[in-house]
Amino acid sequence: MTEGAVYEVSESTASAAWIDESGYFSLYEQSVSNPEAFWGEQGKRIEWFKPYSEVKDVAYGPGDVHIRWYGDGTTNVAHNCIDRHLAEKRDTTAIIWEGDDPADSKHITYGELHEQVCRLGNALKARGVKKGDRVTIYMPMIPEAAYAMLACARIGAIHSVVFGGFSPDALAGRVQDCASTCVITADEGLRGGRKVPLKANTDKALESCSDVDTVVVVKRTGGDVGWKDGRDVWYHEACADVSADCPAEEMNAEDPLFILYTSGSTGKPKGVLHTTGGYLVYAAMTHHYVFDYHPGEVYWCTADVGWVTGHSYIVYGPLANGATTLMFEGVPNYPDASRFWQVCDKHKVDIFYTAPTAIRALMREGEDPVKSTSRSSLRLLGSVGEPINPEAWEWYHKVVGDERCPIVDTWWQTETGGILITPLPGATPLKPGSATRPFFGIKPVLVDADGAVLEGATEGNLCIADSWPGQMRTVYGDHERFIQTYFSSYPGKYFTGDGCRRDGDGYYWITGRVDDVINVSGHRMGTAEVESALVAHPKVAESAVVGYPHDIKGQGIYAYVTLIAGEAPSEELRKELVGWVRKEIGPIASPDLIQWAPGLPKTRSGKIMRRILRKIAEDDFSNLGDTSTLADPGVVNDLIDNRMNKA
Ligand code: WT7
Repeated sequence: MTEGAVYEVSESTASAAWIDESGYFSLYEQSVSNPEAFWGEQGKRIEWFKPYSEVKDVAYGPGDVHIRWYGDGTTNVAHNCIDRHLAEKRDTTAIIWEGDDPADSKHITYGELHEQVCRLGNALKARGVKKGDRVTIYMPMIPEAAYAMLACARIGAIHSVVFGGFSPDALAGRVQDCASTCVITADEGLRGGRKVPLKANTDKALESCSDVDTVVVVKRTGGDVGWKDGRDVWYHEACADVSADCPAEEMNAEDPLFILYTSGSTGKPKGVLHTTGGYLVYAAMTHHYVFDYHPGEVYWCTADVGWVTGHSYIVYGPLANGATTLMFEGVPNYPDASRFWQVCDKHKVDIFYTAPTAIRALMREGEDPVKSTSRSSLRLLGSVGEPINPEAWEWYHKVVGDERCPIVDTWWQTETGGILITPLPGATPLKPGSATRPFFGIKPVLVDADGAVLEGATEGNLCIADSWPGQMRTVYGDHERFIQTYFSSYPGKYFTGDGCRRDGDGYYWITGRVDDVINVSGHRMGTAEVESALVAHPKVAESAVVGYPHDIKGQGIYAYVTLIAGEAPSEELRKELVGWVRKEIGPIASPDLIQWAPGLPKTRSGKIMRRILRKIAEDDFSNLGDTSTLADPGVVNDLIDNRMNKA
């Protein structure tokens, strides 16, 4: 495809933007040559109760790993996202909420946001929630989800948002891991006209979480719900009974702000911990430069608050900048495939940020649903979550953006807190499919398998050589796992888990995960998690899960399943297993393809050879590599003959 294509920055874009190309190079140079001075200055983006005197205190190992930014400063995230703007923006819209039903929308001003967050903060305090306590938020995309996050931040409680698509079991695991004492949820969610039983799921999850003494329930649909007296309280009642004045707790820069669970290559999901000061500085700064946000603009990120994108770029970054952020409850294709663009027209959206999987799904519906809308308010488009294939990039640019809007392809991770590699709209010539250049202060390095740093145009494993303020601080409750996962493969560097190519212009092209993590519709899924869900089924003896290329999702989930002796494969059982994984983890983990495997290819020491399984799932047998070390080479032929993904 058009790998050679370059889209230059137009002069009008460059001159209107915060930063142009020469501005980028000079600021980047300052940021990496004197990080202390650079970040010391950037820290002033937010308001501090007590200013910091130290900027950076970081050790990347070997041995000791600790990351501290602005360590002696104090502040409060909710104060910065709300109170700080009140003098000028009390009546300015902070959040535009667009409901699942196109007839449902509302504007929430900074003044209203302040009152709502204060009330909920007091309601939580009245239920005994205090600084440092963990609060799990299991919510649909309604304004109360943002209020809940900000109310926790205001009183110093640590929130853990669990995506509303996760199952009761997955929710229970996350509540238990961080010992939450309070859950905030809704009666039901509403997506694409369908109800999601959030309260019922919560009740089920909490059967195994005895520490939870409070469940706050937002009435969203008015559907019937179970009720546990003493534990459960309606959100509207709890907030009506309390004062609308709730002082923002003074927090140290390194006090935890939130935990967000994310899948890794092994074991249970990890609780990624982000702290207060550095996180907010980084979220605000990246939102300002990457989206080139100017006051008065309407900014829309289509993510769910259950993912880090929703944390940094629906709630914290935009609100820290006093922006108007749009929050959408629904899905791209309801009531029809024109919904995104109708919403852009309805609310005059300037900046639109979504995932490649949504673009590919909409691309399939043709141009008409796009072209039937004006989109004349749009000036910038963004992409996040997975590599965007050049075909989808070109369509996004041409059809959605009418060739007028630059596209920022933003690479980052739950762990990084904010965007690390990305174009800046006024500064970076674009190459479709490349996340382009590092953001200020970010030093990407490519290393080979032995950790040797590769220079120039090359391909390798992507590491970051030095810290930035938005970086995660630890795995909640397991600092050893933090060190193991991110700092042991290449001592002295943060290892991202991604493979990456750097071209002759110094542009970065993310090639995907190099570990056993797959990226399904922009969501990270650990293959080990899906495998352990499958083997928990009484008829399954063993399973191996890999990713394979999927037209819409980017990667699909391909599961090889060996049944216990005496069980016969059937279509019925296949459906049962798909349903089982949905129930165990959630719909995003459903296997797309299940292949019955009488045996799995293993080395003589019993290790499953995933490389071979990946090749078979990709329908590519050209290079299966060395199979001579297999205990039983015959199983490979059987798997090839019965593969599910025949071209
Ligand atoms: C993984 C992180 C970042 C928020 C959403 C996902 C992949 C993310 C891009 C991009 C290529 C990307 C990487 C990364 N990824 N953005 N623009 N181009 N790949 O967060 O669930 O923590 O997943 O998503 O593989 O490691 P996450």
